[in-house]
Amino acid sequence: MATPRSRPLAVVVLAAGQGKRFRSATPKVLHELVGRSMLGWVLDASKPLKAKQTVVVVGVGADEVRAAFPTGVRFATQRGQLGTAHALKAGMKELGSFRGDVLVLSGDSPLLRPETLRALAAKHRRTRAAATILTFEVDGSTDLGRVIRDDVGRVARIVEHRDATATERAVNEVNAGIYVFDATAITAALKRVKRNNKQREEYLPDAVGVLIASGARVDAAVGDADTLLGVNDRAQLATAAALLRRRILEEHARAGVTFLDPDATYVEPGVKVAPDAVIWPHTFLSGSTRIDRGAIVGPSVQLNDTRVGAGSKVRFTVANGARIGADCEVGPFAYLRPGTILKAHSKIGTFVEAKNITLGERSKVPHLSYVGDATIGRDVNVGAATIIVNYDSETKIKARTKIGDGAKIGSDTMLIAPVTVGRNAATGAGSVVTRDIPPGILVVGNPARPLRKSKLGATKRGATKQGATRRGGTRSR
Ligand code: UD1
Ligand code: CA
Repeated sequence: MATPRSRPLAVVVLAAGQGKRFRSATPKVLHELVGRSMLGWVLDASKPLKAKQTVVVVGVGADEVRAAFPTGVRFATQRGQLGTAHALKAGMKELGSFRGDVLVLSGDSPLLRPETLRALAAKHRRTRAAATILTFEVDGSTDLGRVIRDDVGRVARIVEHRDATATERAVNEVNAGIYVFDATAITAALKRVKRNNKQREEYLPDAVGVLIASGARVDAAVGDADTLLGVNDRAQLATAAALLRRRILEEHARAGVTFLDPDATYVEPGVKVAPDAVIWPHTFLSGSTRIDRGAIVGPSVQLNDTRVGAGSKVRFTVANGARIGADCEVGPFAYLRPGTILKAHSKIGTFVEAKNITLGERSKVPHLSYVGDATIGRDVNVGAATIIVNYDSETKIKARTKIGDGAKIGSDTMLIAPVTVGRNAATGAGSVVTRDIPPGILVVGNPARPLRKSKLGATKRGATKQGATRRGGTRSR
């Protein structure tokens, strides 16, 4: 016989129910909490246990649920939702000849923690019980199954709220709907579960009763309500989501992140935030977003799949799929769309939209501009109200624009893509650039024509401030 430590473990998640109380066209277990589906949270909590197999029992909305989890789990179909015991039968069938321990989870328990499950499985192995059930205590009213214990404190049975007497309803220890079973024992017990209850369903708690009646050992572990609450309606969904949101923020805070107002901050799981980052209120971080050391993000920032480099400041900004380098400044009121790459010390300022661009080191787009599909070199200044006209509505073609190092784009310039602005070239205010500008040349007008050499050519970085801008040629604002 296998030693207690080496007993194989399988996980079965019951997720076939309709979730009537949700009143939703979407399967209950696909509703999201902090950006992750309820079932996703449950599966993630069980992952560290490294089970040999994980089976999700699906029924109502089965195709949608399957599609949401394309890898990592197997599915069993429960035909007709005849209760939790009936659902586990479908799961056990999928496990086939599996021998060992089966951890049964409810798809509607998103608050579960891996430690709780590990402790439950360990206790089950230690005592070699046929079943170990997880319970918790509620204060106040509940519609959960009550755990009835005998005079010596052993579990005698579980009675559903609907079927409970007034005395039984007074019990405040409830069934969490999470169990570890010996595979062989539960397979036999499931066959003997009847539907003699108010809902005419096969109750999994009754299988526990069958095991007790047969003289098998059944133990209970008492857990914490904050990790075991089930979600049966959208009010409970909101409560659970708030707890998860808090949990995430606390983890980051302990790892060295400052949140000025945790109640007004939303960080999805999977987001990485380095120590000494400071997150101001009304900040939403999602997807694969990553914030590096010392960055200041917020107030009022929404970042999805976006990287913020060390020491950068991002205020009043929406960004999706952007990479902001170190020591950059973004906002207030900037919109960074996918493919935006900002190199170190660059700036995207007020009322600027950027898409699919690379902005070189120390380059700036300070005000009121649209920059899309462009490669912008170093030390470039893009004057206020510049538009990169990247889309031709007749041909429906999007084209790229290149702006060389050190170039200065005058205010209100239209760069009609595809077009290349040479190194240290410049445009006068109001230019409409339809042709490539050679390096070091100033163009003006509509369509823009060369006027003279720009005064940027021979100058070093920074020396342009006094030169070209004075004459009005490249005045940026
Ligand atoms: C269940 C328990 C109750 C426990 C509570 C903890 C039963 C009969 N009752 O009640 O003792 O206190 O969980 O939260 O088990 N499911 C199926 N197929 C079905 C029915 C349900 O897969 O035919 C799934 C559901 O999708 C859900 C889980 O099983 O994920 C639990 O079902 P639910 O109807 O939510 O049970 P509760 O009434 O919460
Ligand atoms: Ca439930």
